[in-house]
Amino acid sequence: MNTSSDLKWVDELIRSELDVRPIYSKRRSLKSFEKAAVIRTDEGNPVAYAEVVNHLKGVEITTVLVDQSHRGKGYGKELMKEVISQIDNDLIFLHTKSPALVSIIQKIGFKKKSIPSFISGISILLRLPRRSLTMIFRGDFKRLWLQTITLGKYDCYVLERKRD
Ligand SMILES: CC(C)(COP(=O)(O)OP(=O)(O)OC[C@H]1O[C@@H](n2cnc3c(N)ncnc32)[C@H](O)[C@@H]1OP(=O)(O)O)[C@@H](O)C(=O)NCCC(=O)NCCS
Repeated sequence: MNTSSDLKWVDELIRSELDVRPIYSKRRSLKSFEKAAVIRTDEGNPVAYAEVVNHLKGVEITTVLVDQSHRGKGYGKELMKEVISQIDNDLIFLHTKSPALVSIIQKIGFKKKSIPSFISGISILLRLPRRSLTMIFRGDFKRLWLQTITLGKYDCYVLERKRD
């Protein structure tokens, strides 16, 4: 499988899941893909995908997705372990309202917090307008509406690692 078919797969998955980020430009999608964690079947087909975003302090895991036809088979767990192993930072966080994802990350050691840290909170807020404007300019109003009315349901989970 080549990068362009992988990107097409990710785009289709993002389109069908209104809880995650909108589709950005091709250039930005490629940049995100290069840093993302991808889990594949033995045949090499992608089944799970997670992005990382570097903040002023800490790293955020975003756009956590498992292909609809492969959910409930343990790929989500494998994906989270993989993406965490790729991050070289002691502060890792994510925002979610998915009970399945919460179940996975709590077992890994994430704890619910209001914000990861003061600096990360500012960094997160600075990114919100761009995300909303993308949805407006792309006419992705269903996503914008759903994410706006459910904003209060997203909780922040933080993993503070102590490494040597
Ligand atoms: C969330 C998601 C990534 C999980 O992937 P998955 O491959 O189905 O996850 P796994 O099979 O590894 O594990 C799921 C775990 O959640 C548990 N679970 C499933 N539904 C649950 C629910 N409603 N409440 C609590 N736990 C639940 C399962 O029991 C399982 O835990 P266990 O193995 O200890 O029994 C996947 O469902 C998905 O892509 N969802 C849509 C996109 C999304 O919401 N992403 C999060 C946005 S931040």
